[in-house]
Formats: sequence, structure tokens, C-alpha cells
Amino acid sequence: MIKTETHGRAGLIRLDRPEALNALSDALMEELGAALLGFDADPAIGAIVITGSERAFAAGADIREMQDRRFPGTFREDFIGARWETVLRVRKPVIAAVAGFALGGGCELAMMCDIVLAADTAKFGQPEITLGIIPGAGGTQRLARAVGKSKAMEMVLTGRVLSAEEAERANLVARVVPAAELLAEAIKVAERIAALSPVAAAMAKQAINVAFESTLREGVRHERQLFLSLFGSADQREGMAAFLDKRKPRFGEG
Ligand code: HXC
Repeated sequence: MIKTETHGRAGLIRLDRPEALNALSDALMEELGAALLGFDADPAIGAIVITGSERAFAAGADIREMQDRRFPGTFREDFIGARWETVLRVRKPVIAAVAGFALGGGCELAMMCDIVLAADTAKFGQPEITLGIIPGAGGTQRLARAVGKSKAMEMVLTGRVLSAEEAERANLVARVVPAAELLAEAIKVAERIAALSPVAAAMAKQAINVAFESTLREGVRHERQLFLSLFGSADQREGMAAFLDKRKPRFGEG
């Protein structure tokens, strides 16, 4: 259900459950979580790409598996919390490379990643309302922050699906590329990040994520601490010395 590859310092995770358009079952989410934590712990990897197939990034949580879930069992087992949020624990940058359907939990998974690159075939939506439920893996919150209240309301209340072009206009994705180039482009972005200072990349990611959880004042204070702390890193000395020596920096010392 999950396939992993490495491309230089980029780790690639493919969701591979074609018979169900990569519906995100418990087992698939367990495998995805293990793959993410594996790459996060591997010093040879600097950034991670998650992708699906040409037809679907993921068509959502597995509806067949969900239909018999009942409260309070859902609460006791911490459905969602137990398996869906591992990606949020990853300190390395994670890029979602989305082609085809990114619906429901698939759209939520993409939004939990740090950068979303979309193929021109991508379709984003939160159709949970059509099943008698609502998004449950942060969809209402992350969508509202990304696209604003009115569009988030329209998407979540009607289930309307956005084209890649509309998703780009709405700031749901970083950019759209031709479908044939999606994976190569995502790997290129991951390799570029992975060639930079790992500690600076992890701190940059953390600092931006704080913007979504704090006031501006607290966020700037957090950024300042991280910024100042980087003057204790070998990569700061190397990066600045390399610039002044007019040579390529060799990062990775911490
Ligand atoms: C289980 C799914 C599935 C899903 C597709 N399949 N999505 N199985 N869970 N989410 C299965 C279909 O049952 C079908 O299996 C096969 O994949 C191909 O799908 P089709 O429907 O035949 O394909 P198509 O006609 O091209 O339509 C594609 C589609 C449609 C528009 C994406 O499949 C669809 O609407 N899927 C459900 C989307 C959705 O509602 N997602 C939100 C889920 S709730 P068979 O065996 O018939 O071939 C959710 C909550 C998240 O995500 C909250 C946090 C966990």
C-alpha cells in the first residue's frame, strides 16, 4: 500500500492502493506513518515527498472501513489522532505532490504537508457533508486558514471540488505544474531543500507553523529565538563563509 524510494537526499513515499483510489485505511495510515518517521530519522534524507497515482492522491478516508465505526469507540481508540497526524510530527520538510483526486482525508493529508505541488489534473475537495459527516483531520481549520471563510464554507457545506487552477488561485497550493512533470518537480524541490542546512530547514518549518498557532507577537518572538540560535550552528558559519569565499557551501554539520 506504500512504496518508498530515495532520490539523492529526497525520500519519496507513494500511496499505492489503486483499487480504492488510495482510500486511506487504518493499515495504509499506519504504513504511511512508519515510512514518514523512518525518513525523518534517517540522516541521509533531507526532505520528503508524498505522492499518489495519476488518478488519485487519495480519495479520502476509507468509507467502507468507516461505515461501522461507532461512538464512543471512535473516541476511545482516538480515531484520527492515533494514525492521521504522524505527518505533523515530522521535522523535515514534507511536500505533497498531488495529481487527480485529493478528497476528504486526502485533501486534509495534503494540507498537513508543508508544501503542496499540484498537477494540472488535481482536484481538491471536502465532500464529507455528502456522507453525513464533516472533515475530521483538521480540514475545517486548515482550509479556512488557507482559502478564507467563504470558500471554506462553500467547499465544506456543499462538497464542491476545486480544479487545480482554482486551488492555486485560492492559495491552497504553492503552484500547478503539468501532470507529466509533477513528480520530477516535487523531487527537485525536495532535493533543493535537502541540499541546504538541515537545522535551518527544520527551524524555518517550525517558525512558519507557529504562525498558524499563535498571535503575531508570539510568532515573531518564537522566530527571533530560532533565528538567534542558528548563530550557534556550524551551518551558519559555513553558509556565510562560503558566500564570502565565493564557493558552494557544504552544509550538514548542524
Ligand atoms: C473507500 C473508495 C473511496 C473511499 C473511492 N473508493 N473512494 N473506497 N473509501 N474514500 C473506491 C470505490 O468504491 C471504487 O471501488 C473504486 O475506489 C473506484 O472508485 P469509483 O467511485 O468507481 O471511481 P469514479 O467513478 O472515478 O469516482 C471517483 C470519486 C469517487 C469521485 C473519487 O470514488 C468518490 O466520490 N469517492 C469518495 C470520495 C469521498 O467522499 N471522500 C471523503 C471520504 S470521508 P469498487 O470496489 O467499487 O471498484 C473522509 C473523512 C476524513 O475522508 C476525516 C478524517 C479521517
